[in-house]
Amino acid sequence: MEIISLNNKYSKAIAELHKDCLPNDFLTLLGEDFLIKYYNCIFDQNNSLILGRFSENNLVGVIAFCSTEWSIFQFAKSNVLFFFKKCLIAAKNLKFTVYIIEVLVLFLINKPHANFELQYIFVDRNYRQKNIGADLINYGIAEINRRQHKSFDIIVKTLKSTKENIYFYQKNGFNIVKIFCGRVWLKYNT
Ligand SMILES: CC(C)(COP(=O)(O)OP(=O)(O)OC[C@H]1O[C@@H](n2cnc3c(N)ncnc32)[C@H](O)[C@@H]1OP(=O)(O)O)[C@@H](O)C(=O)NCCC(=O)NCCS
Repeated sequence: MEIISLNNKYSKAIAELHKDCLPNDFLTLLGEDFLIKYYNCIFDQNNSLILGRFSENNLVGVIAFCSTEWSIFQFAKSNVLFFFKKCLIAAKNLKFTVYIIEVLVLFLINKPHANFELQYIFVDRNYRQKNIGADLINYGIAEINRRQHKSFDIIVKTLKSTKENIYFYQKNGFNIVKIFCGRVWLKYNT
């Protein structure tokens, strides 16, 4: 099993694993084609980094970092019609409408003070509890460090603020910086 830096050839495989690992995530509710475009857009950003862990040629873990300058708003701006069409379809789902309000209120008006954002981390259900999540974080931080040549910080704004998720980030060097309406933000400082 190895961790490699991914490119847009892997967007479909990433989207499939995202859907499977985070079935209730609001991006998942927008559909697989949305996820593919979303990851393509992250790959196009300067300073983005998406790593994948493979087992026998299957993608079993992903971590995605991008600059905090980037947000889903940039994605929406460059894909206006596609974005609104998908939102209109998904808005029939109450869960999605609640998520959109959460994202707008909790996340976008609260600008994080950090250089990078850990956008997503997910590991195939059959491969969890084997340190793959920890390896992806460590490898990602080492790679950003190698590229940056100066100190930096990484924020993670948890959508699923479960005890296990918070514990997972804390175990991997992140500290809580904000608890806002029940959502937890953590930061990793170098
Ligand atoms: C969070 C996640 C990436 C951890 O991956 P992993 O490869 O199992 O991580 P590790 O083996 O390095 O660490 C396991 C630790 O994560 C914690 N953990 C967090 N979420 C967990 C989950 N949904 N299931 C199992 N363990 C979880 C466990 O407490 C465990 O701690 P322990 O080893 O002391 O028992 C993985 O559980 C996952 O993909 N979850 C679904 C997606 C998700 O919620 N992502 C984070 C969004 S904020």
